[in-house]
Amino acid sequence: MTTKSSTFFDRSNSILSHLEDTGQLKQLQMIESPMGPRISIRGRGEVDCFCSNNYLGLANHPDVVEAGIDGLRTYGAGTASVRFICGTFAPHEALEERIASFLGVEASYTFVSCWNATEATFPTLCQDGDVIVSDELNHACIIDSMRLTTAIHRGVSKCIYKHSDMDSLRDALVSASKKRSDEGTIFVITDGVFSMEGDIALLPEIRSLCDEFGAVLVVDDSHGTGVMGETGRGTHEHYGMAGEDIDIFTGTLGKALGGGAGGYVAGKREAVELLVQRGRPTLFSNALPVTVACSAKTAIDTLVANPSLVQKLRDNVAAAREGIADVGFEVLESPTAICPIIVGETATAISMSNQLLAMGVFAIGFGYPVVPEGTARIRVQISAAHETEHIDRLCAALSKLKNAT
Ligand SMILES: Cc1ncc(COP(=O)(O)O)c(C=O)c1O
Repeated sequence: MTTKSSTFFDRSNSILSHLEDTGQLKQLQMIESPMGPRISIRGRGEVDCFCSNNYLGLANHPDVVEAGIDGLRTYGAGTASVRFICGTFAPHEALEERIASFLGVEASYTFVSCWNATEATFPTLCQDGDVIVSDELNHACIIDSMRLTTAIHRGVSKCIYKHSDMDSLRDALVSASKKRSDEGTIFVITDGVFSMEGDIALLPEIRSLCDEFGAVLVVDDSHGTGVMGETGRGTHEHYGMAGEDIDIFTGTLGKALGGGAGGYVAGKREAVELLVQRGRPTLFSNALPVTVACSAKTAIDTLVANPSLVQKLRDNVAAAREGIADVGFEVLESPTAICPIIVGETATAISMSNQLLAMGVFAIGFGYPVVPEGTARIRVQISAAHETEHIDRLCAALSKLKNAT
């Protein structure tokens, strides 16, 4: 007998079969070792890892691991509650102060992920009459946060500008100025480092356009923090800007800053305090696990004490980009640790990624819907933990792949 629910399960199976038949089904690899430049994958053995955001190699740093263990011993697993109901642990406060001082801003507040932080940001900070202006290639969490905002506040509008195109941003700001109410605020949101392209936002130009139009600048620097700038403060530091030149940062603790999980909003005190008071993920969801808070703070302390990590990452990035180009692949130009090799179709990217894995190199192929159709890519990510031997093996495997096509 066909029921309504069996129709749903049939539909789901047919979508999954379609993905399998067209070579688009993702395989989750089971990692049986800590994250590092070389990891152990179930059924594959040891491989060189080039798809983690472990940019500084801190995910398994002994001090970062110890801090988490200490946190677990001292505080247990958590408060089993939302922070405003049942208090907050001292490590959350210490981490939030550390994030704020690291970025050079007034305040910060943590969430279980940057996704969650972003989902809190716009629905909480916006009200009817406001306009959000967003780069077309911003991360999915920004897109979904805007969708949520306009669903909750019907009087909030969106304007999308062409990727890193300052004329298009100006046009969007002109249009936003017409759409906003007399009391309305314009927010401009951009990734600092674009996660799929690996290029960087033109922050000085964006800042001056924000100033011209009286807009608030929000930067998601999830891939820039710990990576960009002389001391890893982020994309703003790369441009010689101060933390306070950015009104609001969103960012993750799940990449360079320890790699466990977690996200934050940082910036002007009143914006952060509004999120504490009114953010729905703040009011209705548990805190970042205290173990992660302890590890993340130690990760930032470790970075601050060892700025040479950032230099090592930069040297590795230069070597890898040169090596990839030398074996005949075109890698999108940029100073970041994200090196995308565009291959076209999703199935091609997945097949190339499988062939690389068979050669002992773990680099993931991204296709639709993560990136637009026809722009599937292998995304190679570089870490300060890589040594010359890892980068040499990456380039040798890519060279074999190139010669086989
Ligand atoms: C630019 C950007 N923002 C936000 C996120 C989400 O971070 P999290 O894993 O902390 O939710 C990611 C993760 O891929 C990202 O690349």
